[in-house]
Amino acid sequence: MTQNVQTMTHPAVVCRRLTKDFGAGENQVRVLRGVDLDVAFGEMTLLVGPSGCGKTTLLSVVAGLLNATSGAVMVLGEDASRMSGTEAVQFRRRNIGFVFQQYNLLPALTVAENAAVPLLAAGIPKKRAVAAASDLLSQLGLGERLHALPSQLSGGQQQRVALARALVHEPRLVVCDEPTSALDHETGNAVMELLTNVAVRSDRAVVVVTHDSRVFQFADRIAHMDDGRIVETQQEGRSQEPEVRMKAAAAQPSFAGVNQ
Ligand SMILES: Nc1ncnc2c1ncn2[C@@H]1O[C@H](COP(=O)(O)OP(=O)(O)OP(=O)(O)O)[C@@H](O)[C@H]1O
Ligand SMILES: [Mg+2]
Repeated sequence: MTQNVQTMTHPAVVCRRLTKDFGAGENQVRVLRGVDLDVAFGEMTLLVGPSGCGKTTLLSVVAGLLNATSGAVMVLGEDASRMSGTEAVQFRRRNIGFVFQQYNLLPALTVAENAAVPLLAAGIPKKRAVAAASDLLSQLGLGERLHALPSQLSGGQQQRVALARALVHEPRLVVCDEPTSALDHETGNAVMELLTNVAVRSDRAVVVVTHDSRVFQFADRIAHMDDGRIVETQQEGRSQEPEVRMKAAAAQPSFAGVNQ
């Protein structure tokens, strides 16, 4: 793998005084109210905070799906707001994997085809793209469901297809919105382990929004968000001894059903 030395001199994501307003006139609301956030390469960063505090909005701005109202966002050293529309789309497709809170699978495509979409969009021949997607889906326990349609899957299975789609093109930044919310304990752990093993490398980074305290043991850093701002960032667990982390995890409430 080629590692661009230049890119390692800056964080994977930098947000400075970032704001995002929705609506206009009297209906205008400021949802992001000056976000400052650094996401380091080689780390899994969790973004936590109460419902409605702006987590999905922030992820969407970082992933280039929404434009900020003001402030700066640098992703992998690039400022997408300075790119042309086409350049920004290509940059996003190549470098960012996104797991949406609502899985956003394409209903007419099979499970394997859905997971292959980023490779197909990059012009990889269908057979190769679907083979790579199928491999990842098998690692996520969906090897038997490759030819099913999304509507034939449970919520947790659809969530794993969305995860495979986010990882299949080996993006340097993966952002996940509640990737374990529909999963039982064992499957949730498998998803987080895959995410850690596949997506956390020295030249990559992962940001996970979660309400799920069982996920905390996988974090390198936890950014706490409240009312449109990052209010605290704490360095976490993966640098701790495994026994300490397991104890911390055992003390947490149950894995599923924490999402309000
Ligand atoms: N397109 C939109 N138009 C108007 N308001 C919006 C829009 N999207 C989000 N909001 C508002 O912005 C606020 C933050 O929403 P967001 O979805 O970012 O919260 P969240 O932290 O992800 O919450 P949850 O944990 O429930 O998913 C909410 O008050 C929401 O109603
Ligand atoms: Mg959300």
